[in-house]
Amino acid sequence: MAMNMTSRVAALNPEVEQILKPFKLSREELMLVMRRMRKEMEMGLSRKGQKEASVRMLPTFVHYRPDGKEKGSFLALDLGGTNFRVLLVRFCPQTEGGMKHVNQSYSIPQEVMQGRGKQLFDHIVDCVAKFLSNQKITERLPLGFTFSFPCKQISLDQAILLNWTKGFSVPDCVGKDVVQLLREAIQRRQELDLEVVALANDTVGTMMSAAFQDPKCEIGLIVGTGTNACYMEQMKNIEKLDGDSGEMCINMEWGAFGQGEQHSLAEIVNEFDKLVDQQSLHPGKQIYEKMIGGKFLGAIVQNILLNLKEKGCIFRGIQTHTLEQENIIRTKFLSKIESDSGDLLHVKSILEELGLPCGIEDRVVVQAVCLAVSQRAAQLCGAGLAAVLERMRENRQMDLMKMTVGVEGSLYKLHPHFSQILKDTVKDLAAKCEVHFHLSEDSSAMGAALVAASTRAS
Ligand code: BGC
Repeated sequence: MAMNMTSRVAALNPEVEQILKPFKLSREELMLVMRRMRKEMEMGLSRKGQKEASVRMLPTFVHYRPDGKEKGSFLALDLGGTNFRVLLVRFCPQTEGGMKHVNQSYSIPQEVMQGRGKQLFDHIVDCVAKFLSNQKITERLPLGFTFSFPCKQISLDQAILLNWTKGFSVPDCVGKDVVQLLREAIQRRQELDLEVVALANDTVGTMMSAAFQDPKCEIGLIVGTGTNACYMEQMKNIEKLDGDSGEMCINMEWGAFGQGEQHSLAEIVNEFDKLVDQQSLHPGKQIYEKMIGGKFLGAIVQNILLNLKEKGCIFRGIQTHTLEQENIIRTKFLSKIESDSGDLLHVKSILEELGLPCGIEDRVVVQAVCLAVSQRAAQLCGAGLAAVLERMRENRQMDLMKMTVGVEGSLYKLHPHFSQILKDTVKDLAAKCEVHFHLSEDSSAMGAALVAASTRAS
């Protein structure tokens, strides 16, 4: 379907095709991305290279993957996307699936996401208190905290925040131990008695949850608001850490790929990516994430449409001030626009909703722009994942490696083509890896409960 639409556009206007050209990556370009990712992984793990690597390769202190025998009840908190979530997770080996959970989402106002640390952590604890009271929970529960930002972990329950990403910016927390900040906020709320036992990145939580059901899962992948991956690495390959036996999960923080001195994505980044970066909350950072994550795809589309409008290729002769408003094209619109076929009536209704002209020519162009942007996102993500898989396969000296990837995130789950393009790219670039993608709801948060459970098992 994608091809048909693109050729319809070319038939309408070759200039559109020209503008979308930098989004059509060749196999060579994808292989270049894969090679560079592997190089940065190597640097990030080494003692000397770690300072220059944009991919930080952060140790998580998770050596263990679940075996399905976990027991007990845990609270899990999940901070990192658009909402903050609280879950009560009960592991019960006898029941189907091995666990039960209830959860509740709470919104985080923008002024809290970009305010002071005390305000943010008090808000979190306030939501936890509401949850406990709604669920009538009075027992003292161990708590696992899914915190989806780069942290230098010193142990499972010590995590120094390195920087904020996505829509968060709370400067006074940077350089501080976020577990401690949470404990202090709990103490301020005197009626609460909770024991924070572990912090985990969302990728780690996702890998742990998938591994709970499928022991072959050794990779966690997030493609939602932001993007990132983690995987199990042999200790002997983590040069920057002492100790040679066993393995540890590494939080790659691959969203930062392409930032800084290495310029690993220099050949791929185009004028629209640069614009989106400049307009973002953290300019110059998270370059790969800004080409893949749901928070940014709408902004890329919007910048392309503005450019097409300026060139007179779309919305001809009509004032379109709405197109200049910040964040007007949401990623959920992309999903809807790209699922459409025939007369593109969904596209029409979205353009109407946005107050934009919606003639058939405009609809076709808008759809082609969305397709190009999300196709590149899925391919780039696939190239990164292929790098991880190939590294693991070569380290294990296997001719064929079977691997399960635990995956979570709205883009993977809800977008009509993203997951398929990602899978096709991985199949092409890592042909010696047989990959099964394990998608599960709420997995990143439940995984923090599993990490918490691991502290009880040992
Ligand atoms: C964060 C990662 C996180 C990813 C997905 C990125 O912006 O730096 O820690 O895993 O988003 O949520």
